[in-house]
Amino acid sequence: MNPTNLSKYPNKLIVSKIRNGIVIDHIPAGKALKVLRVLGITGSEGLRVALVMNVESRKLGRKDIVKIEEKFLSMKELSLIALIAPTATINVIKEYKVVEKQRVEPPSIVKGLIKCPNPTCISRKKNEPIKSLFKLKSTNPIMLECQYCGYVLKGDEIEDYIES
Ligand code: CTP
Repeated sequence: MNPTNLSKYPNKLIVSKIRNGIVIDHIPAGKALKVLRVLGITGSEGLRVALVMNVESRKLGRKDIVKIEEKFLSMKELSLIALIAPTATINVIKEYKVVEKQRVEPPSIVKGLIKCPNPTCISRKKNEPIKSLFKLKSTNPIMLECQYCGYVLKGDEIEDYIES
């Protein structure tokens, strides 16, 4: 199908339904690759992955979707998705059925997941065994405050500081 004709086929699935795994829906348009990155998916794991970007969405205008077969998410992965794609919905698929649907929620305390952007923050010192620690200050937009130096990380800036 010619992509310019997509709006003429609003009910057409771009990729087929999956049998078992997860569908991460309602990802803000353009963020699907970032979601794959925080999940550590590079393609070499052999997982079957489908990526849909910039498709029409009633709720968001445009959205991305990521489908991953035979993968289920840990709490850490759910927290990271909530921080970079707060509108995401996680659908758990078993035998082609949606058996669970959950909204992601940013954690009130974020420990060891994000690097403080302030180069002089004590959590950045190599010889200090201190894990980064942020408190959630607001959810829309997402704002995280470093509990060591007070630096406030906001919205899209967060994805650039995910600990690898
Ligand atoms: N899906 C899939 N494989 C399945 C079942 C569902 O890939 N076996 C996908 C659908 O294509 C959709 C998402 O999972 O992108 C959620 O499915 P569903 O709850 O049936 O769709 P909606 O009702 O449109 O979801 P919502 O209300 O969250 O917008």
